[in-house]
Amino acid sequence: MLPLLRRPRRLRSSATLRALVRETELQVTDFILPFFVSEKIARRQPVQAMPGVAQLTLDECVAEAVEAYELGLRAVLLFGIPAVKDEVATGAYAADGIVQRTVRALKQRLPELVVITDVCLCEYTSHGHCGITVREAGGHAHVRNDESVELLVRAAVSHAEAGADIVAPSDMMDGRIGAIRRGLDAAGHTDTVILSYAAKFASAFYGPFRDAAESAPQFGDRRTYQMDPANGDEALREVALDVEEGADMVMVKPGQPYLDILRRVKERFALPTAVYQVSGEYSMIKAAAANGWIDERAVTLESMLAFKRAGADLIITYAARDLARWLRS
Ligand code: PBG
Repeated sequence: MLPLLRRPRRLRSSATLRALVRETELQVTDFILPFFVSEKIARRQPVQAMPGVAQLTLDECVAEAVEAYELGLRAVLLFGIPAVKDEVATGAYAADGIVQRTVRALKQRLPELVVITDVCLCEYTSHGHCGITVREAGGHAHVRNDESVELLVRAAVSHAEAGADIVAPSDMMDGRIGAIRRGLDAAGHTDTVILSYAAKFASAFYGPFRDAAESAPQFGDRRTYQMDPANGDEALREVALDVEEGADMVMVKPGQPYLDILRRVKERFALPTAVYQVSGEYSMIKAAAANGWIDERAVTLESMLAFKRAGADLIITYAARDLARWLRS
């Protein structure tokens, strides 16, 4: 017998003991389900690289939100795909835009559902960038910050007018949180919550999303506004600015490759902190599971646990419905 005083295995010796000392627990209300609502389609269009995800019509979105609500989910995140795109993203702030109409329909059918809207221009611009863009020599994109912020404010206010509970700016322009807060307040929406995509990295993990939202940039890339994946301290500076400017909640995105950032943000700011398990993370799990290489349910649940352990209070995930079902059984 080894002369051991400490035997960590003691606390793992039965399922009930393990449950007693478990530090992290998942709840259905941790999850936020994204929807892609399209003005261009007559019925659902599956997104090829994201099994289980589809572009939906407004009516289908409401029906799916009702099902999600019945499963216990209480928050959704809306992305819109407009019929027409232009240089100035008119659809993003049109009072009768696809997101604005969907918000109204959702709030009418499910008043208790927390409706979050993604505030960005990339789904609405003909060039696919997140702001007003000039094409420069060599195919580079110059995205004009301050002009773009004006349009983002209009988009956020139009979402609040429609009844959105939370607006979530994902564009990464400088100063947009303060400008949106002032715009919302001036329009009387002092209670509309801002969930800032505060630390959003220029990530290759967004690949499948750009097909789902039809928002791939037509030239250049997003590296002049989204963050360099190499930088952690800079992420804290970005979050600090958004907090000073009035963000109520902050987000780290992508998720699993950025758990270190998530932990640092939660520790430093102690705000409600969201993490986004992005399209590429979801698709990789789906693809490996479809090949029989991993256990989809176990891997998805473990990923969620890792987010919470690292500091996430809220998790945006395309697997939200499956998670709700798994947590029930
Ligand atoms: C829009 C936006 C993107 C995502 C969320 N909002 C794409 C991007 O920045 O290119 C990515 C979400 C995902 O990959 O699931 N700006």
